Amino acid sequence: MSMSRQRVVLITGANGEVGHGLIHTLRQRPDCPGIVVLDLRSLDPEMMPYVDSSIVGDILNEELLDNLSSEYEIEAIYHLAALLSTHSEFRPEVAHRVNVRGTLNLLTMALEQAQFRGEPVKFIFPSSVAVFGMPDLSVKASVAPVKEDEHLNPITMYGVNKLYCEHLGRYYTHHYRQLAANRTPSGVDFRGVRFPGLISATTVPSGGTSDYAPEMIHAAAKYEPYACFVRPDTTMPFMAMPDGIRALIELARAPREALTRSVYNLTSFSLSAEQVAARVKTAFPGAEITYEPSAGRQNIVDSWPADMDDSAARADWGWQPEYDADKAFNEYLVPTIRAKYRRREA
Ligand code: SER
Repeated sequence: MSMSRQRVVLITGANGEVGHGLIHTLRQRPDCPGIVVLDLRSLDPEMMPYVDSSIVGDILNEELLDNLSSEYEIEAIYHLAALLSTHSEFRPEVAHRVNVRGTLNLLTMALEQAQFRGEPVKFIFPSSVAVFGMPDLSVKASVAPVKEDEHLNPITMYGVNKLYCEHLGRYYTHHYRQLAANRTPSGVDFRGVRFPGLISATTVPSGGTSDYAPEMIHAAAKYEPYACFVRPDTTMPFMAMPDGIRALIELARAPREALTRSVYNLTSFSLSAEQVAARVKTAFPGAEITYEPSAGRQNIVDSWPADMDDSAARADWGWQPEYDADKAFNEYLVPTIRAKYRRREA
């Protein structure tokens, strides 16, 4: 029996929007190790050719994680599995279990793997604009793009969970087991980004609160009317999915010594719902968009900053979005979404 284990990256929540894009992009890289994915739902069949192993299971199942850990040499974990902000408000305790306990389980796995390999294990973590909490609309309007350490008073369970997990990652990387006599670095190399609302041309999100923007675009392309669940003036930062995927991969590749923080704000462009709608109507002139704000979801987006300052990411690891609003709509979202639904009609 061979004692060598296959060297892989592990992607949790792989069947979500970010997961699909990440699998495609990682697979194209010449230096790509094996890809093992874990998700509650079985991976979409069209994604299967791109992965080495697809496991259907729960990140709360510690036995399953132990088995994975003994089967593979895991050099990096992209921990994408989470309940998003709207879903989490329906079941806050479940969200806490999945978002926090699940992350702790994966950090523990990273620790074991680092000790087994004698080399660091990268832990790439998508955090969110939801870690911020603006006290009211006038502060939201007057604050310049928020920096990483400002206004960290999230009002959602999801935001609270993400903020705490950022701290867990920093703890595991720099401070694990302070009291141990001969404390050595844990080997966990946690790196986080705070994403704005991500917009994909190929998938629609589920359970988030920034979902009105992607939903509006996809509905228009399908000739469906859309009732937007926030006011027209509601503004938050967004990013085209390819930039989000590239950010995760570039952060993973950045030299450790260049990183001055464990988590970085990222953004690309800020738009109001009305500005998103205007772009959608230009691309799809028949689009029917109305506004039916839902108090709860409105409140959530009102608590998020209108813009994030991502200068630390730019300075430390050369982050630069490729898609501003014009390019995101004209060269990515509109043509890809149009083609996607046209193909379905044909
Ligand atoms: N897009 C996410 C959400 O709406 C924010 O991270 O929950």
